[in-house]
Amino acid sequence: MEKERFYITTPIYYPSDKLHIGHTYCTVATDATARYQRLKGKDVMFLTGTDEHGQKIEDKAKEAGVTPQQFVDNIVDGPKGIRDLWKLMNISNDRFIRTTDEYHVAAVQKIFKKMHDNGDIYKGKYKGKYCKPCESFWTESQLKDGKCPDCGREVQDAEEEAYFFRLSKYADKVRDLLENTDFLQPRTRVNEMIHNFIDPGLEDLCVSRTSFTWGVPVDFDPGHVVYVWVDALFNYTTALGFLNEQYHDYDKYWPADVHFVGKEIVRFHSIIWPAMLMSMEMPLPKHVYGHGWLLLDGGKMSKSKGNVVDPYLLAERYGTDALRFFLLRSFPFGQDGNFSNELLIQCINTDLANDLGNLLSRTAAMVEKYFDGQLPAVQEEDPMDGELIAMASALRDKYEAQMEKFQMQNGLEETFKVISRANKYIDETAPWVLAKDEAKKPRLARVMYNLLETLRICGTLLLPFTPDSCAKIFDQIGASTEMTDWEAAAKWGVLPAAAKVHKGENIFPRIDVEKELQALDAVQEAARRENLPAIELEPQLTEKVDFDTFCKSDFRAVKVKACEAVKKSEKLLKFTLDDGTGTDRQILSGIHKWYQPEDLVGKTLVAIVNLPPRKMMGQESNGMLISAVHTEKGEECLHLLMVDDAIPAGAKMC
Ligand code: ME8
Ligand code: MG
Repeated sequence: MEKERFYITTPIYYPSDKLHIGHTYCTVATDATARYQRLKGKDVMFLTGTDEHGQKIEDKAKEAGVTPQQFVDNIVDGPKGIRDLWKLMNISNDRFIRTTDEYHVAAVQKIFKKMHDNGDIYKGKYKGKYCKPCESFWTESQLKDGKCPDCGREVQDAEEEAYFFRLSKYADKVRDLLENTDFLQPRTRVNEMIHNFIDPGLEDLCVSRTSFTWGVPVDFDPGHVVYVWVDALFNYTTALGFLNEQYHDYDKYWPADVHFVGKEIVRFHSIIWPAMLMSMEMPLPKHVYGHGWLLLDGGKMSKSKGNVVDPYLLAERYGTDALRFFLLRSFPFGQDGNFSNELLIQCINTDLANDLGNLLSRTAAMVEKYFDGQLPAVQEEDPMDGELIAMASALRDKYEAQMEKFQMQNGLEETFKVISRANKYIDETAPWVLAKDEAKKPRLARVMYNLLETLRICGTLLLPFTPDSCAKIFDQIGASTEMTDWEAAAKWGVLPAAAKVHKGENIFPRIDVEKELQALDAVQEAARRENLPAIELEPQLTEKVDFDTFCKSDFRAVKVKACEAVKKSEKLLKFTLDDGTGTDRQILSGIHKWYQPEDLVGKTLVAIVNLPPRKMMGQESNGMLISAVHTEKGEECLHLLMVDDAIPAGAKMC
C-alpha cells in the first residue's frame, strides 16, 4: 500500500543576521511535527530554506563591503550559519531551498509571466509607504500612528512605476476561505485577518520594484525585480519542482498539508498566498498555522533590538534534546511565550531530570540490582497496577489528538502525566521493600516490567521531541525498533519479559539552578559584549561655539600633590592640586572605577579652573579634570589627560 503523504514547511528565513532562539523555535516545532508524522508511518516532505533577496539584504551586504551573494552565502553556509544550526538542532528536513538557487529564480520568472499573461499582474504607478526592515508596502490607511503596523518603525514615501497584482479581485474568495474553512489556524488569527485586512478592503498589491536590483529580474521588463514576497512564497512549490527540472515531486506532495509561520507573516500566507495560487489555478495548501512569538522581557526578540538569545550557546550547554524539549514543552504553539533562562533550567530539571531521567535511572538500576538486568518470566500481577497500565495504554490516542491539532505542548503534557504516574507507582509499590523478601520476587519482577513498559511507550511518543535521548532510553531498557513504532505505542505488553536492561549514563543530569543561572547570565553577557562594536566614539558636535566664548574657558596644567577616595562614595576621588597659584586647589572627580588614588600622585594633569564651585558628597570641588572617553565592547573607558611633566604647574593651555 502506498503511504499517505504529508508535506510541511517552515518559513524560509532571511539570512540578514544570524538566527536566534525565536527562529529555532519555529524550525524545531516543524521538525517535531514532521517526525511525528513519520512515526505514524507517513511519507513526509519537510522543507525549510532561506529567503535571500530584497533591499534589506542588499543594504546589509553593502554595509559589510561584500556582494549580496557573498553576504548570504556566509550566513547560510558559513561557520555557525543557518545550515550548521539546523544540524546542531537535529532538524530532519528533507530539502533546503535557497531563493537564489537558479532553478527557483527561473521558475519565479515563469510564474510572474503567467500571472501577467492572464491579466492578474498589470503595470501601474506605485505611491505609498515602504517599511524597509519588513520589506512591506503599506497604504496610508494601513499605517498605525503613521508607522509600520507590523513593527512600529518609520516608513518612507515611495513612488515609482511598478507592476501590481489584482489582489482585490480575490477578496471575496479569500474571505470565504478564511471564514468558512479551517484553512487558517488557530481560529483567533482568522478574526485578525478579516478585521485588519479584509474588512477595510483589499487593495491591489505592488509586486515589482525598480529602486534596487537584488532580486529576481522581471525578464520581460528589464529594471524591474519581483517583489520579495512573491519570490519567497512560491518557494513552497518550486522546491518540489514546480516549473523547473531540479525536482520532480510537485504532483506527489502539493498541496502542502501545513505551512507553519510566525504570526507577523500570517497576512502573507493567508491572504496574498492563496490569492496568487488562485490566479495560477493551483490547489491551495490545506492549512496555515500562525504560531506566537518568543518574547524576551515582554518584547519580540529581534536582532535589530539587540535582545536575542543565541541557540548555539544553549544547545552546547544543555544539549540539543533539552533545548528542543524546552521550546515545545513550555509555550503553547499558537500564543506568545516569555523566554527566560530560569524557565529553561527549571523545565530541564523538572521534566527531564526529575521525572523522565529519574524514572529511567531508578528503573534500570533496580532491574540490574535485583535481577542482574533480566527479569524472570514468572511475574505476579496486582490490581494496583491497573491505573498505570490504563494510563499508559491510552496515552498514544490522547497524544495523537493533540499532535493532530499541532498542540505539541499538550501532547507532551499528556506524556508527562504518565511519567509522573510511574514515579508515583514506584513509591506506592516500594520495590526496595519487596526486594527484601525472596517470596515477593515475582511481584517485584512485575513492578519492574510495568515501569519498563511505561518507559517504552513514553519514549516512543517522545521521539519527535528528543530523538537522541529516546534512543538511549531504548538501549537501556532493551527495546528494539519494532517495539518502539507507532503501532507498538498503543499496546501494553510488547517488551519481552526477558529483555536485557542495563543502567547507562544519566540522560538528563540535574542542574544546580542557582549556580547555573549565574554562570549562564555571565556567559550570555560576555557573548553579548563580544558582538558589540569594538570602539564607539561620541559623535562630534556640529553646533559651533564662537572663539571668544571658547577663550573664556581657562585650562591649566595641574600637579597632583595628594589623592584619596572620598568616604562612602564608590566613584569619587578627591585631588589636592598644585595649580601654580601657591594655594592648593581641591577637585573631586568620579573616576575611581578607572584609577587607584596612589597611582596618580605626582602626575601632571589638565583641569578647567574657572568653573563655579560645586558640592559633591559634602565636599567642595573647584574645577574639573579633563579626560578622554570612549566605549569599548559596551564598556565605558576613561583616560585622564596626562601631559609632559616638564610643563610647570599653572601653565595655561590655549
Ligand atoms: O519572515 N519568536 O523571515 P524571518 C517566534 N523570509 N518566531 C520568530 C521570532 C520569535 N521571536 N522571530 C522570528 C521571514 N520568528 C520571511 C519568510 S516565508 C515564504 C518568508 C519567526 O527570518 C518569524 O515569525 O524574518 C517567521 O515565521 C520566521 O521566524 C522567519 O522569519
Ligand atoms: Mg521577520
